[in-house]
Amino acid sequence: AVTLVGAAAAGHAEDKKIVLGFAQVGAESAWRTANTVSVKSAAKDAGITLKFSDAQQKQENQIKAIRSYIAQKVDVIAFSPVVESGWEPVLEEAKRAHIPVVLTDRMIDAKDPSLYVTMIGSDFLEEGRRGGRWLEEHYKDDKGPINIVELQGTVGSAPANDRHAGLMEIIKNDPKFKVIASQSGDFTLAGGKQVMEAFAKTYGKQINVVYAHNDDMALGAIQAMEEAGMKPGKDVTVVSFDATKGGLQAAAAGKINVDVECSPLLGPQLMDTVKKIVAGEQVPHRIVTNETVFPMNVAAQVLPTRKY
Ligand code: AHR
Repeated sequence: AVTLVGAAAAGHAEDKKIVLGFAQVGAESAWRTANTVSVKSAAKDAGITLKFSDAQQKQENQIKAIRSYIAQKVDVIAFSPVVESGWEPVLEEAKRAHIPVVLTDRMIDAKDPSLYVTMIGSDFLEEGRRGGRWLEEHYKDDKGPINIVELQGTVGSAPANDRHAGLMEIIKNDPKFKVIASQSGDFTLAGGKQVMEAFAKTYGKQINVVYAHNDDMALGAIQAMEEAGMKPGKDVTVVSFDATKGGLQAAAAGKINVDVECSPLLGPQLMDTVKKIVAGEQVPHRIVTNETVFPMNVAAQVLPTRKY
């Protein structure tokens, strides 16, 4: 159940524009850029005044932005939490100011569910399981060992934690799969390339699978592997996440074997939800995005209609 707060409780005047404060993570990936475009254009289409800030992947910047939205008495605050922990104090402040909070894209690990009205975004754990299940099927007739190197996303972020946990849940009962190395590339292309260069030097031909938590890091890893004389997609299986145009182009070129979809197009759903909250309507506490999996052989087909 949703308590009426802020503008809803005060009776938001019909002709007054809703003001939404949105604290974005940063601009670390193609996914994030598409997400920002989606939020900005959906706000415009919905006639919502958007106050937007970019935290450059730093939690302290996001906290500052949220505090400034509280001070400005916006109608609703939405944000995509860079990491899972440490949000209670600032969300308590928003609650005391009667400003409803919507989480988008990434979840927090706070115990008190009343600190946010709803969370709109992907099920990252299920995405990780999808990557793991694809690997199981791909290697079903192979006795192994199958050595996996993992390029993790931002340390402490929900997608990094859950995509790792989802993979482990699936492969834990099959001893032929082994994660031999795991390191963060912070969801960036440069980060993915740098970590993969080190992995290629240390493990070389022992590597069977690169499990990259997003397309940007997978694209960086592909560059590193090619420079090291390895053949991504052929002698090294590449599993990636997001299914951006760049990721699917690499899949169509035979360099990413499977791309697990994660949609950044959350803007329209966010604006609908904000309007409902301001109108005092009930909204579900969790809104999960519909997503699928794109193996290499379907990438070329879906590319022409890909929106991000
Ligand atoms: O939170 C979603 C993740 O963040 C995307 O998978 C990644 O590309 C982005 O930076």
